Amino acid sequence: MQTDSSFTFVLFGGTGDLSMRKILPALFEAHRAGGMLADSGKIVAVARHATNRGEYIQWVNEHVKPHVSKNGVDETAWASFLERIEFVNIDLGKAEDFVHLRDAIQDLPGIRVFYLATGPSLFVPICHALASVGLNENSRIVLEKPLGYDLKSSNAINDAVGEIFAEEQIYRIDHYLGKEPVQNLLALRFGNALFEPLWRREWVESIQITIAEELGVEARGDFYDNTGALRDMVQNHLLQLLSIVAMEPPHSMDSDSVRDEKLRVLRALKPIDPRDIGKVAVRGQYHSGVIRGTSVPAYATEPGVKHESATETFVALKVEIENWRWAGVPFFLRTGKRLADRVAEIVVNFRAVPHSALGASALRAGANRLVIRLQPNETIRLYCLAKQPGEGMNLASVHLDLAFDQFFREGQMEAYQRLLLDVINGRLALFVRRDEQEAAWRWVEPILNEWKASNKPPKPYASGTWGPAASSAMLAQHGTYWLEEEN
Ligand code: BG6
Repeated sequence: MQTDSSFTFVLFGGTGDLSMRKILPALFEAHRAGGMLADSGKIVAVARHATNRGEYIQWVNEHVKPHVSKNGVDETAWASFLERIEFVNIDLGKAEDFVHLRDAIQDLPGIRVFYLATGPSLFVPICHALASVGLNENSRIVLEKPLGYDLKSSNAINDAVGEIFAEEQIYRIDHYLGKEPVQNLLALRFGNALFEPLWRREWVESIQITIAEELGVEARGDFYDNTGALRDMVQNHLLQLLSIVAMEPPHSMDSDSVRDEKLRVLRALKPIDPRDIGKVAVRGQYHSGVIRGTSVPAYATEPGVKHESATETFVALKVEIENWRWAGVPFFLRTGKRLADRVAEIVVNFRAVPHSALGASALRAGANRLVIRLQPNETIRLYCLAKQPGEGMNLASVHLDLAFDQFFREGQMEAYQRLLLDVINGRLALFVRRDEQEAAWRWVEPILNEWKASNKPPKPYASGTWGPAASSAMLAQHGTYWLEEEN
């Protein structure tokens, strides 16, 4: 991919965790690969913990370099990458300081990208300050999650940002949309004739979507304790995955065709009746336990977390989509920290054959199932039934595997790299539109409200397990089980 789209990439929060782990390493990767970033493109860091370019470069060398490449850094590429970096020292709280930013970048070529890798409380003040010096013209703004705490606060941010930037200038990041396997889900669904006819209520019995993590809250206890898994993972990543799994085929891959279809799914989610919450939503919190042989502490004792915290670190939900294609098909969503494994996958359970001419063993052997593993080790596994060798007609479940790394050994791109290149090149399809975000908040909010009102603590689960027993019980009520419970 060759590009001549020049750019000035202004990174607010240039010494923050996200810049260190994701944004600068992703820009370096794009630089190192060659041809992805225009030679004239510049990165302008705005950061608190440095006073001049020299100090900033030193910080980048110390903190970013260790994150850039697992197989050793290409020193020549690293040196030329550093040449792209400029530094501006301004106080983000002082709008008048933005004159210095304008002066520093006004003669730099190409499209301006303002990446707000800062806390959300700075989003609106930064936008106002940019507008006060005319920097909102001919530019793009990238907003990181969390974008608000609920519908009202997210609307307040979107309204304020929307007065300064037009919707097509706003890039709301959900990094799950940049993951290669999520892209592949679109290819699987809309590039193959095989699956689409079966992708509906007539043939699908239930669908599961899991994003499980082994990590706990790490150094983010403070933030997480005021957020919880529903806001941190469900409102965005899980509902985005769900909308891609369930959406109608778009007319094309242009940004609004895809986003229109995703929006239709989000708007068709069956609202949760507060009286049913116990039947369709499980929330849990991790206690101490053992993960891969190492003892790990309880959530409530993590730094930054309130001792009596009622914040959920696990959520399981039963979701229904009220439309022609999916009426009556349960979608089970689940996410949690300190679970038994790190895995993100989608499981499509197909219905059993309508009549088994092959006798009882066919029914016992189950039905077809498609497992799309997003991470780690992207694979697609299709479970089929086959005759066991020998006498009689006894069936067993066997599977066909498609392991992507065996087909495509090169060219894998990290989510942030893809998304940053999309911003620089003006491609909006993988960014969340305001109406999608609103629809997602509208759907999760009754759950948040009900949990708050009920005053019940989340259900405990031991670290290193698959969450509270209530999560399995919820599926059992529908005659099914989470994939890992299969014996
Ligand atoms: C982030 C959440 O959006 O996604 C984190 O804030 C979570 O809590 C992370 O750990 C998971 O992303 P990934 O790419 O590691 O699956």
